[in-house]
Amino acid sequence: MILRNGHVVDPANGIDGKCDIRFENGVITEVAPEISADGSEELDCRGAYVVPGFVDLHVHLRDPGQTAKETLATGTAAAAAGGYTAIAPMPNTTPATDSAEKIAALLARAKDECRVKLMPITAVTIGQEGTTKADLAAAKAAGAVAMSEDGKSVMDITVYREALREAAKLGLPMFAHCEDKNLVAGGVLNEGVASKKLGLPGITDAVEDVITARDLILAGETGCHVHLCHVSTAFAAELLRIAKEAGYPVSGEVCPHHFAMCDDEIPSDDANYKMNPPLRSRKDMEALREAIRAGVFDCISTDHAPHTAEEKSRGFAKAPFGIVGSETAFALSYTTLVKGGYLDMSGLVRMMSTNPSKIAGHTGGTLSVGAPADIAVVTGEETRIDAADFKSKGKNTPFDGRRVYGKVLATYVNGRRVY
Ligand code: DOR
Ligand code: ZN
Ligand code: ZN
Repeated sequence: MILRNGHVVDPANGIDGKCDIRFENGVITEVAPEISADGSEELDCRGAYVVPGFVDLHVHLRDPGQTAKETLATGTAAAAAGGYTAIAPMPNTTPATDSAEKIAALLARAKDECRVKLMPITAVTIGQEGTTKADLAAAKAAGAVAMSEDGKSVMDITVYREALREAAKLGLPMFAHCEDKNLVAGGVLNEGVASKKLGLPGITDAVEDVITARDLILAGETGCHVHLCHVSTAFAAELLRIAKEAGYPVSGEVCPHHFAMCDDEIPSDDANYKMNPPLRSRKDMEALREAIRAGVFDCISTDHAPHTAEEKSRGFAKAPFGIVGSETAFALSYTTLVKGGYLDMSGLVRMMSTNPSKIAGHTGGTLSVGAPADIAVVTGEETRIDAADFKSKGKNTPFDGRRVYGKVLATYVNGRRVY
């Protein structure tokens, strides 16, 4: 297969220009300005970008146990449609992914049911109950690329530090959802203009910032790589910057919804605007964009969190937290960050592919000769987000109907077209 005449952007190899790419038997075999025809199939990529497939460190596939929301098949079809070639499913399924057996079971199913590569994440504690550490060494040996208690934080600092110490020895990163359970106080959206307008309890910045500080400090103490999930406040971004400056082993992700939207855009009591951490203030949104420009964040992750329409119809007070993101991430990021002048295309590919791939220890995120042919073909053309078209079972997005720039034309995993 030859992808011809595309604008190739591969930050890992410093490529940013017109190039052809050949792959055979699932592996990239040539990248050059002009590849001679070999009789194999060709795709004309004129006017499009050819980039290493996106890597999402943060998705919720809901399988096993919550398959009315999503399944391995629908969640990975959504990822493929978003240009993703590898995704890391969070362990808050039913039951929680908290053992080597459950990691192995996921990977065994992946071959038949998944369109993209799975990079499983083990829970930190058994059942994500926060009390008994999971067998992290066994989980890692079975294929876990990280540990996470996503959906909450491990509040017991003794249990948590022990897990970080062990993970440091194993070289297993911690994907940290930072939320102080004792400070949430029933909040359902950001404490600010929207919570006042709707008369609903707010989530303060401190809920996130307090645990963010704790986790960054513990990264420094234990030597465990702590990767901050879905940073949403200006102050948490500043804490990440400081921890990096101190030389701590830390990284951070930011989600498209947090830099593309803010709480003054919440029109009514519509739970498609409800996620955790919540849409923050306009000031926070602008600070996140500036932090992206300054290189504080390593990657863009989606926190793709599908829920049923019925669940999401219950309003802010009663609906579950979370919005879908796999199929809107590239367009929202391209529109806000590239069109908005915060990043060039190479910077965006770095945050959506190169860096997340490195953090997960994944053999992707590059178009090097010899690398797996995990590739996305995308454009900056104008389009309209239409939730009805999503491959995901979840249609819960506040971006439905939004005009954006950015479209995924094709996705290849190991050289096989999956979208
Ligand atoms: O919005 C969210 N949804 N935040 C989380 O931390 C969990 C996630 C989910 O599982 O739905
Ligand atoms: Zn989370
Ligand atoms: Zn999450």
